[in-house]
Amino acid sequence: MAGRGFHDPRLERIFPPNAEVNAQGVLEVGGCPVPELAEQYGTPVYVIDEEGLRERMRAYRDGLAARWPNSQVAFASKSFPVLAAYAIAAAEGLAIDVAGAGELLLALESGAPAELIHLHGNAKSREELVLAVDAGVGAIVLDGEADVERLHALLTRPQDVLIRIIPGVNPRVPKAISTGGETSKFGLPIPQAKELIARLESHPFINVVGLHMHIGSQVLEVEPFQRAVEAVRELGEFPVYNIGGGLGVNYNVKHDAPSLDEYLDAITAAAKRVLPGGSRLIIEPGRSLVARTGMTAYRVNNVKRTGATFVAVDGGLADQLNVALMNMEFTPIVANRASTQPDTVAQLVGRQCESGDLLVDQAELAAPATGDTIVLAATGAYGYTLSNNYNGALKPAVVFCRDGESRLAVRRQTYAEFLGHHVGPSEEAWAS
Ligand SMILES: Cc1ncc(COP(=O)(O)O)c(C=O)c1O
Repeated sequence: MAGRGFHDPRLERIFPPNAEVNAQGVLEVGGCPVPELAEQYGTPVYVIDEEGLRERMRAYRDGLAARWPNSQVAFASKSFPVLAAYAIAAAEGLAIDVAGAGELLLALESGAPAELIHLHGNAKSREELVLAVDAGVGAIVLDGEADVERLHALLTRPQDVLIRIIPGVNPRVPKAISTGGETSKFGLPIPQAKELIARLESHPFINVVGLHMHIGSQVLEVEPFQRAVEAVRELGEFPVYNIGGGLGVNYNVKHDAPSLDEYLDAITAAAKRVLPGGSRLIIEPGRSLVARTGMTAYRVNNVKRTGATFVAVDGGLADQLNVALMNMEFTPIVANRASTQPDTVAQLVGRQCESGDLLVDQAELAAPATGDTIVLAATGAYGYTLSNNYNGALKPAVVFCRDGESRLAVRRQTYAEFLGHHVGPSEEAWAS
């Protein structure tokens, strides 16, 4: 039987590519009805359109290779540090970018080849560098002098590195996710980078193969990426240029992010103007790779009508910190009534004890009632990443859906695990 479609056809470009509304008006992802997933795995739960994720990875990989054959797309794994995602990225021919020992361990555990892993970070510890060097990672992105000193002290064989530069580009994004301007904590201004590169020329083991940069995240125009690429001109020629990630995504129908083709056209046009023809061009998308393929499903705990109508779900800041950090405007839908026109404007709130725990301001919902399954679209990036135990909330499960089958990728944290971090009265006499 034909599906009924979303109550607003514009939602199709916000929800995962393999999401649809079935003949009963129920939202399905990868052929799995979302209310059934909520029942089976509990809520809140992050639900991933696995085929959509794979398609997006291939589109990135093939789209860049068609424009710049000597290229590599690295999954910026901070956006979705889930073992299954690392394994899928590697299987789809992507490299992996990690920003710390934990992400490096996930990448290695997933079976991704070490030579396809890049480690970056502005304050790497000696232990992280030892782990990366011992694992044989493809490149370490040096952020400054401290990295050089630590690597110098531990290397006994050559290690390829990139130098992170500050291209001096400030895209129009929230301050928390702007990383390319003069005052960024990441990388070196171009004159300092130049000096460091010259100094490392004679180093026996630190092998500078190129440059790295990343101007920020949720960038909704392509021109800043072009300016950043052009900024490398004055540093000379290198075999490798990693220009970071940052492409923005549509979180609601008002957003109009550049398409992947527009973005790839723009960066490769700039690269053709300033980079050596045979050099390797690397990009590190996170948000624009995973955001749209992920959603978060909640159950409605109660509906209250006081000064406003409050629809309260069983999650909140603990699993969707982005709403408070970056005023993210997510799109909600009642998953079990996805074809029905909204008739209610409500404050969609979480259960955490903060007024700022507002998932969607003025949410338009179809007859919301206790027990409904409500989904927030496009939460695949940085949602799971930032999940936390606020008010003792347990970190949610992550489920991958494809061809009508669901697979658990991350188990929901248990109260035993939550309590287990604490040194309790059986070990330490706190009360005395
Ligand atoms: C160095 C680096 N590369 C890539 C990314 C991924 O950025 P995005 O998720 O916006 O694509 C980030 C995220 O902040 C980053 O810091």
